[in-house]
Amino acid sequence: MTAILSLDNVTQRFGGLTALDAVSLDIAPGEVVGLIGPNGAGKTTLVNMVSGVYKPSTGTITFDGKRIDGLKSYQIARLGVARTYQVVQPFPEMTVLENVMSPATFAAGNLGVEAAQEKALEALRFCGLDEQAQMRASELTLAGRKRLELAKSLAMDPKVLLLDEVNAGLNPAEIDLALDLIRRISAKGVTIVIIEHLMKVVMNLCSRIVVLHHGAKIAEGTPAEVTSDPHVIEAYLGNRYARKQAGEAKEGADG
Ligand SMILES: Nc1ncnc2c1ncn2[C@@H]1O[C@H](COP(=O)(O)OP(=O)(O)O)[C@@H](O)[C@H]1O
Ligand SMILES: [Mg+2]
Repeated sequence: MTAILSLDNVTQRFGGLTALDAVSLDIAPGEVVGLIGPNGAGKTTLVNMVSGVYKPSTGTITFDGKRIDGLKSYQIARLGVARTYQVVQPFPEMTVLENVMSPATFAAGNLGVEAAQEKALEALRFCGLDEQAQMRASELTLAGRKRLELAKSLAMDPKVLLLDEVNAGLNPAEIDLALDLIRRISAKGVTIVIIEHLMKVVMNLCSRIVVLHHGAKIAEGTPAEVTSDPHVIEAYLGNRYARKQAGEAKEGADG
């Protein structure tokens, strides 16, 4: 496989803390990869390094055959890597449309106002937010703000999209809508890395799951492999989840 995104032995230290510990990872074009692990495992740090917020302490990151570690965020964004933020931070006084126009302009470098508007509207339509285009961002519900995050990243025409807990705090109906939206983004050919605590979402979307614990990659594989891995159960999923899965598998077999 020729990876679209590769991390090779990437370590990130913050003072005495090793937030990411020699992580290597290859993501194939078109894949939807889940990144899971307990709070503090290093998931957001990984996204921050790929998107250029931090430069790795050691190791290399390659996107589309080009080394990107050490590049600035805007350079990485222009190459085609977009990310969402765990804590959504729209400009509250700007309209929803204006919030999406800025990343559209930012990623393209030299986009006129009309072209930026068209691009932003297209992203809003795709995310089902076009009717809210003229609302102030502060008037959106949490689900709306999460979708705005997605629209902002889509307006950058990414090849790779890193999603950091885009479904946190949503209710089940909103999560179903979000699942559908993420599937449609994937169907456009965008490669997706999704950080997610809801196993329902991970199991539904991802062909492969990577598990981080204390900054290290402790498992990687298909959803079935990872969720039955004793290390993952111990570090993250817990025995309750494992028993539930086993029960469901048995029900499936019986039925
Ligand atoms: N900028 C930073 N400075 C110091 N420590 C940080 C910084 N960012 C993250 N950390 C620490 O790195 C570890 C991993 O954090 P994070 O990547 O946010 O975990 P996760 O997203 O998996 O919950 C945590 O212990 C966190 O406190
Ligand atoms: Mg995080």
